[in-house]
Amino acid sequence: MPKRTLLSCLAVALLLPSATARADGPGQVLVDKGLVSQEALDGAELFFRGTFSGNGRTCGTCHPVDNNLTIDPEFISTLPPDDPLFTFDLPPDDGFLEREDLLAPFGLILENVDLDFFDGVPDMPRVDFVMRSVPHTLSLSTSIDSADELAEPQATGWSADGSPDGTLLGFSTGAVAQHFTTSLDRVVGQDFVLPTPQELAAMETYMLSVGRMADLDIDSLTFADAAGERGRDLFLNIDDFPALPGQEAFTGGKCRFCHNNAGADIADQNFNRDTGVEAVVTPARLAATFPIDDGHGSGTEADGRFNVPPLVEAADTGPFFHNNAFDTIEEAVGFYSSDTFNGSPAGLDLSGEGIHLAPGGKEDIAAFLRVVNAAFNIAIAKQRTDAAALVVTKPRPIPCIWGLPCPPPPPEPNEVTITTLLALANVEAQDAVDVLSERSLGAAALVELDLALDLNQQAIAEQDANARKLLIVSAAQHLESAGAALGGGLDFQLGAGNLLF
Ligand code: HEC
Ligand code: HEC
Repeated sequence: MPKRTLLSCLAVALLLPSATARADGPGQVLVDKGLVSQEALDGAELFFRGTFSGNGRTCGTCHPVDNNLTIDPEFISTLPPDDPLFTFDLPPDDGFLEREDLLAPFGLILENVDLDFFDGVPDMPRVDFVMRSVPHTLSLSTSIDSADELAEPQATGWSADGSPDGTLLGFSTGAVAQHFTTSLDRVVGQDFVLPTPQELAAMETYMLSVGRMADLDIDSLTFADAAGERGRDLFLNIDDFPALPGQEAFTGGKCRFCHNNAGADIADQNFNRDTGVEAVVTPARLAATFPIDDGHGSGTEADGRFNVPPLVEAADTGPFFHNNAFDTIEEAVGFYSSDTFNGSPAGLDLSGEGIHLAPGGKEDIAAFLRVVNAAFNIAIAKQRTDAAALVVTKPRPIPCIWGLPCPPPPPEPNEVTITTLLALANVEAQDAVDVLSERSLGAAALVELDLALDLNQQAIAEQDANARKLLIVSAAQHLESAGAALGGGLDFQLGAGNLLF
């Protein structure tokens, strides 16, 4: 299924009146069925449709539900020129909210992370800024428990200090002021309105309910693909291997020193590290001049350190790192064998010889991350497909009158909910296909995925409720089989917010 067809289905579903709350909107039936809480739905409404009287952007402008809650150059290239993402020149003096030369080509967003817009001190937002990639907002409930040494209540944003008050709850206030404003003076009540305490709480509830709610136990996983098995073992390995005569010495991946269980935490603490990524000469650095990103803290307090992100979500959310330094997951893994990493404060801090993967090592670790990501995609696809099956309405048969043509069945009252859930299920299933097939992984799973994609597509078009339900239930079974075909133990505790859009 080409992505464009999926997206046009979605476009129809999402072309709904823009308002901050839609009582009886297509999400309401999910609350009525007990699948999500009212507060999470209210939060999603604000996240995807709340403009806070600003420049027309919503949180979903940069964290869209049909692109893993993030944006990248490929996605940006599909947007119409009047999309509010492309808000560049603002008063006073036509200053830039975004850097036009860095947004579409490199997916980089202007962030005034070191400024306090609300302290009454005049700011220089066009001088004091950094350019950052958009992180997905998946699985935040597993990744924001700040390490004690960070002295941040919660670790949010690439340098863990993205929120004005250091919490996820307060993050939305900062995001509205940063991204939604109609002027660089950022006058509250004039250039945008701030979320109320109740709205902040609803958005936090929604954000904490998307993605995974718990980390995997990667030790216990088994993989159908040998490369996945090798990659997991190397990911966990913290040894330095003795050099063979005439050869370089190699090491384990040592990834678990920072990404325990392919997550973002060590013992439930999310740390910051200076891994040298900022020193990489990226394509954006070659094309344009912009300030160096000094990471956590500001001014003389800045320490060049960035926050550890979770890796289960990584493979389909490239480009990678806070500066979109690398396009492929293989390149991102390969970075850890570079002199730049090994010479960085975090590299020098590692036990032994730093990280030097043997030939094939980065491909194996990437294969492991690809399979885990595909399994996660499939689990969300199944979660959405299962929900669609629950929402299909039992048709009340309309009696046929003898001699007259039978009346058509009554229209499905939850049509938008069902078709959107199925289209979004297929977005995830397609991501799984892409992530696996790019490196010839998961052959058996791919067969099941193709069947599921096709069945869900048929179900979107099917008008008869009974036939539709059969198609959806069958799609869910093939998704289940696809997940099982990747290996054992790949079970995710998923949040209910994955059903919201
Ligand atoms: C113009 C694009 C844009 C818009 C609009 C936007 N964001 Fe973001 N978002 C970003 C970028 C860039 C970052 C990284 C910021 C940083 O490193 O501090 C980010 C980071 C985040 C994070 C931190 C994720 C993590 O892994 O720690 C959260 C949470 C978040 N955004 C929520 C929101 C909410 C809520 C809204 C709407 C009120 C919103 N964003 C609107 C671009 C955007
Ligand atoms: C010393 C701690 C540390 C170690 C060891 C480490 N990482 Fe990281 N990892 C980080 C930090 C910090 C970031 C964010 C860096 C940035 O963007 O500046 C990161 C980011 C990543 C990303 C990008 C994720 C995204 O969403 O863009 C990938 C992929 C990754 N690491 C994979 C690995 C792999 C594979 C290993 C083992 C070979 C590894 N990491 C070892 C700390 C570490």
